[in-house]
Amino acid sequence: MKNAPRNVALLNAGFIMLVFMVLSFGLIYTGVTFKLAHIVAGSLLIFVASYFSVYYSLNRFIYNRLKIIYKTIGKWHEVKRGQQADTNSNDILGMVNQVVLEWHDKQQQKIDELQKMADYRREFLGNVSHELKTPIFNIQGYILTLLDGGLNDDKINKKFLEKSAKSVDRMIAIVQDLEEISKFESGVMNLNETVFDINDLCREVREFLEVKAERNNTQIIIKEAENSRINVLADKTRIRQVLINLVDNAINYSRLKGGRIIISFYDFHDNVLIEVSDNGIGISEKSLPRIFERFYRVDKSRSREKGGTGLGLAIVKHIIEAHRQSITVRSKPEKGTTFSFTLKNA
Ligand SMILES: Nc1ncnc2c1ncn2[C@@H]1O[C@H](COP(=O)(O)OP(=O)(O)O)[C@@H](O)[C@H]1O
Ligand SMILES: [Mg+2]
Repeated sequence: MKNAPRNVALLNAGFIMLVFMVLSFGLIYTGVTFKLAHIVAGSLLIFVASYFSVYYSLNRFIYNRLKIIYKTIGKWHEVKRGQQADTNSNDILGMVNQVVLEWHDKQQQKIDELQKMADYRREFLGNVSHELKTPIFNIQGYILTLLDGGLNDDKINKKFLEKSAKSVDRMIAIVQDLEEISKFESGVMNLNETVFDINDLCREVREFLEVKAERNNTQIIIKEAENSRINVLADKTRIRQVLINLVDNAINYSRLKGGRIIISFYDFHDNVLIEVSDNGIGISEKSLPRIFERFYRVDKSRSREKGGTGLGLAIVKHIIEAHRQSITVRSKPEKGTTFSFTLKNA
């Protein structure tokens, strides 16, 4: 296909020369005068040459542009946007080219998405196996020691069993969180939206986490009169999960003394803005944009020690976005962190 126009041109040139020679000799042979023979042969020559040049240039013009379209279809993954043919022409080739380019862009988009999905899956599987490996190897170590006859000390043996149970709990927490995330990501998570009092729900969450907060010398304050109702339209169970995650984090990442967690509410257009702020260790500017990523933790050992899976905030974000609302975070190291999210006012 590559040299087609040149071959056609050479064939045509050869053919014209042959026609000219045969005609000249043929006319002279049949008795026509030398001059007239040349006029007839010359006219025929001009006709054939014009035919040839029009044919040749059209062929070249169409061929070159079709070649680019052919390349775009056949080797579309090698062709970059800028290397493609001019799409401004309004003729049929320009239109065909435009359609091919649009098709090319769609294919490229699909490939990019698939590539991103493959990268994400690879990274996710790597993270999951890494997270599960630690408790599994811990349990294996405890069991092997006990199978070896234990440590002849019932107290230490009991401690090993307790540690094994803790590792099992950790594995269960990871698997449960993973199940949640996969439900959200596969779109099978249905919300059961009802009207409820968010102020009341915050009090329920405070009660639930009060003992843990006290053990960590942390106070949970709700900045709203007890009897004032703030009605929202949302999935109560899911929002309870959001609040528990945020307040639990605020307790886990508090400083040693005088921890204060404040929950406050603001009117925000048609929504209620809910803020959970603490005066804890804070999050550095570098880590802040990654805080909602699965398995991202600023301090892995502190998170593990507190029983964290690194999936809490990813689940929180999924829940809020499933409500078609948003969540943001602002923080200053050593000063504290504030998470703000909105819910539909009812
Ligand atoms: N209130 C907070 N103060 C300081 N750091 C926080 C706070 N909330 C979350 N983080 C950081 O964000 C990370 C991710 O949070 P999360 O997804 O809940 O996972 P984890 O299981 O580690 O708690 C935590 O490991 C911690 O580093
Ligand atoms: Mg957490």
